[in-house]
Amino acid sequence: MINKQDIINTAKALVAGDKGLLAMDESNPTCNKRFAALGIPQDEETRRAYREMIVYTPGLNESISGAILYDETIRQHKKDGTPIVKALIDAGIIPGIKVDMGAKEMAGHPGEKITEGLDGLRDRLKEYVQMGARFAKWRAVITIGNNIPSQACIEANAHALARYAALCQEAGLVPIVEPEVLMDGDDTIQQCFEVTEKVLRQVFNQLYTQGVILEGMILKPNMILPGLRCLKQESVDKVADATVNCLLQSVPAAVPGIAFLSGGQSGELASAHLNAMNVRFKSRLPWALAFSFARAIQQPALEIWHGKEANVLKAQQALYHRAKCNQAARRGEYNASIETT
Ligand code: 13P
Repeated sequence: MINKQDIINTAKALVAGDKGLLAMDESNPTCNKRFAALGIPQDEETRRAYREMIVYTPGLNESISGAILYDETIRQHKKDGTPIVKALIDAGIIPGIKVDMGAKEMAGHPGEKITEGLDGLRDRLKEYVQMGARFAKWRAVITIGNNIPSQACIEANAHALARYAALCQEAGLVPIVEPEVLMDGDDTIQQCFEVTEKVLRQVFNQLYTQGVILEGMILKPNMILPGLRCLKQESVDKVADATVNCLLQSVPAAVPGIAFLSGGQSGELASAHLNAMNVRFKSRLPWALAFSFARAIQQPALEIWHGKEANVLKAQQALYHRAKCNQAARRGEYNASIETT
C-alpha cells in the first residue's frame, strides 16, 4: 500500500534547505552527441565511466539532494561492482529515473513534438522502484515559432505529463513534471512568458483533472528568457522578475518546489538567474526555487574529463564547484567572486 505521506516527504526532501537536483539522465543519443562534440568515444563503457566519475565526486551531497539517472545508468555498476544506485544512496543522494521515451514528431503538427512513453509505464515504474528509485522525470518539449505552439501540442503534452505523474504517485514515486519551452529560438522574453504561462496553466489543469497530489510533485520549468537567437537579450534581474511573475500566475502554492532546467544557459548565467530570483523574492514565495540542471552543472566537468581516467579528480572538482555555486544561488549568496575561489 502506497503511503501518500512518504511521497510528500520525498518531494520535500528533494528541495529542502539549499540543495538541488543533478540531472545526469541524458539518453544515449544525447550523451553521445555531447561526447562526440569533444571527441570522446561514444560507447557504453565510456558512458559508464563518466557517470561513475560524477557519482563519486567527493562532497557532492553537500549541495545535491537527488540525481536523475537514465535507464542504462540505473542498471550499471562501479568498476568495483557496486551498483551506481547504491553508490548514490550511500552518498546520501536520492536516486531518480528518467522514464519518458523521448519527444517525437507530432502527427499533423510540423515542427512540434509529443513525448512518448505511457504504454507499459506502470510496469516499468514498478521495476525502477525495486531498483531503488524514489522519484522520476518526464520531459515535454514545446517550441516557439511561426504559429506554434499549437493548442493541440500544449494539450497533448500536458495530458501525458499528468497521466505520467498519476502513475508515478500510484507507484510511490515523486513525479518531476518538466514542460520545457525551448530557449534556442529568436523569440522575445515576452513571447517566452506568454507561452510558458499558457503551458503551465494547461499542465496544472491536467494534473488537477488526473488527481495528482500537488504536495507530492516537483515542477521543472524553463526560466523566462529571450531565445538565444533573439537580438534583445535581457538583464539578470529582468529574467528573475519575469520568471517569478510567470510562475506566480500559474503554479499553485501547494507545490513544494520548483527546480529549473538550465536549457543551454552557461553555468554562470544559470546560477546568476537563480540567485537573483532568491535574492529578490525568496521570503515572499510559497514554493522553494531550486535547480535541476544538467549542462549548467556538468559541462565544465565533461570538458575537463575528456574520457580520460587521469582527469577524473580535476573534473570532479569542477562538478563540485558548479553544484556549490547553485547551492549559493539557492541562498541568494552567489556572486562572481565565488567563481574564482
Ligand atoms: P539542462 O539543464 O541541460 O537543460 O537539462 C535539464 C534536463 O534534465 C532536461 O531534461
